Amino acid sequence: MLDTNTDGVDQRVSTGDLPSWERIDERVLEAYERNVTDEQGLVADYIPELAAADPSQFGVCIADVEGSTHVAGDAEVEFTVQSISKAFVYALVCQEFGHTEVGRLVGVNNTGLAFNSVIAVELNDGHPMNPMVNAGAIATTALMPGATLAEKWENIRTGLSAFAGRQLSMDGEVYRSEAETNTRNEAIAKLLKSYGRIAGDSSGIVDIYTRQCSLRVSARDLAIMGATLADGGVNPVTKQRVISPIVCRDTLAVLATSGLYERSGEWMFEIGLPGKSGVSGGIVTVAPGKGALGTFSPRLDSAGNSVRGQKATAFLSRSLGLNIFASDSEGDRHDV
Ligand code: DON
Repeated sequence: MLDTNTDGVDQRVSTGDLPSWERIDERVLEAYERNVTDEQGLVADYIPELAAADPSQFGVCIADVEGSTHVAGDAEVEFTVQSISKAFVYALVCQEFGHTEVGRLVGVNNTGLAFNSVIAVELNDGHPMNPMVNAGAIATTALMPGATLAEKWENIRTGLSAFAGRQLSMDGEVYRSEAETNTRNEAIAKLLKSYGRIAGDSSGIVDIYTRQCSLRVSARDLAIMGATLADGGVNPVTKQRVISPIVCRDTLAVLATSGLYERSGEWMFEIGLPGKSGVSGGIVTVAPGKGALGTFSPRLDSAGNSVRGQKATAFLSRSLGLNIFASDSEGDRHDV
């Protein structure tokens, strides 16, 4: 890792404001209406229970850093958080161990390979490389504070609930379905253990990782969880500080480079915001200092990212002026 100590340097942040309440409401509805008829993509079926999802479901929500929400469609429908949990568990672990140590143990570089790649581990001498792919997420879950597996799980459930501002519960059916078919994640965890990258009971860690993926959230929950990252770590509804501003910044940097797996470059190019997708169809996207978007629709592209979710987010990023690289809205006006 680079030595980037900036102690004593004047710290400034770059951000702005969301448009008016009415404009956001209009645009959220428009993002929904423009994409609700899009039937591209396929529902995930490698976890058998996920194949039962209703592909027509589509929800969009924006939460601002004051905790107000704007919703369209199935924004209150619950689904399993899946890989989106990786972002929030990573934040909780960074809060405990700090930027440098987690960077050393788990890494922050994009693997450029699929989320469940085994070869990415082999190509990097057993280093998990990135906390947003399964290998790095399993290694991150292993670092979660807790003397026992049960304590680690409780800390994850409580921590993710603090981000959401309500008690999250696990979907037992999806958990069992994934636990019964989880041989690939078991293999990844054993491979990491063979390289000395995780300590302890690798199957037990995979079990906790599977549980964290099976927590139930809605698009609205995702927006509030994301808004907590946009708000320097304070949940905008409950006003609870969940993590520090520095951990938020670090987490968003990782999402920016790898939240959408091997499609992260295209995502950044189109949307220009840190985001994280999950295989049951959720996406959380964060506009630092402003708010966050939660979307849900189960049909996925071949990298495992919701098709409608990506399109709705791209539309909202442009039409609400959220792209962190845009210094002039002129281009966006032609591009929506
Ligand atoms: O470990 C898995 O394969 C799932 N529990 C989560 C994967 C996932 O969400 C990938 N996302 N797009």
